[in-house]
Amino acid sequence: MSDEAAQHIARFMHAHSVAPARSAARHPIFGQIRHLMDVGGRSGVFANEIARKWPELKATVMDLPAMARAAQSYVDRAGMAAQVDTAGVNMFEQDWPTGPDAHFFSNVFHDWPEETNSVLAQKSFAALPSGGTITLHEMLMDDDGCGPWIPAAFSLLMLLGTLGKQYTFEELRLILEGAGFTDVQSVRSGMNHYSLVTAIKGA
Ligand SMILES: C[S@@+](CC[C@H](N)C(=O)[O-])C[C@H]1O[C@@H](n2cnc3c(N)ncnc32)[C@H](O)[C@@H]1O
Repeated sequence: MSDEAAQHIARFMHAHSVAPARSAARHPIFGQIRHLMDVGGRSGVFANEIARKWPELKATVMDLPAMARAAQSYVDRAGMAAQVDTAGVNMFEQDWPTGPDAHFFSNVFHDWPEETNSVLAQKSFAALPSGGTITLHEMLMDDDGCGPWIPAAFSLLMLLGTLGKQYTFEELRLILEGAGFTDVQSVRSGMNHYSLVTAIKGA
């Protein structure tokens, strides 16, 4: 991907995610995190908003190299470079940075089928320290998979344009527990049917 293409794509998703990021950032789970890695963070909008809300927290935006360079320009323009950095890493093909005690995936699992998400959850589990946390930010489908209509409409877009879909909490719980995480919970983030699904890497 060229740097120009990455900037263009980052601009589109940034516009979609800025309001959900501000809403999610208020959640107290982020107050317990020392170093958050925003996996597939694109423009870094979540990392920037979470770090702005929680000044003690450090964040790293991890994405493909061209996208990580685009994210760095958003971090710099947001004036967040003292708290937020970037890492150009292919999440499937390369080792993940160790050091962060929390991994955050927003709108990443909805791009991929369950088998691929299981690989991501396993890579996350391997890179986190004991006691570390994983958080998924996704629009959840109801348990019967039939609604609500906003996630269902979003799921249709995912089915047409990606290899994924919007998941139910139960589907995500099974993926996370299959990778070794425990204490899987879900809370509404307060915006457009988005939820935060959290789990812990036990000692
Ligand atoms: C749907 S976007 C989510 C962006 C952001 N988290 C949000 O919610 O606004 C998915 C992100 O995953 C990244 N991605 C896709 N394949 C990747 C890979 N192999 N390694 C690292 N990041 C990847 C894309 O570049 C993109 O930024």
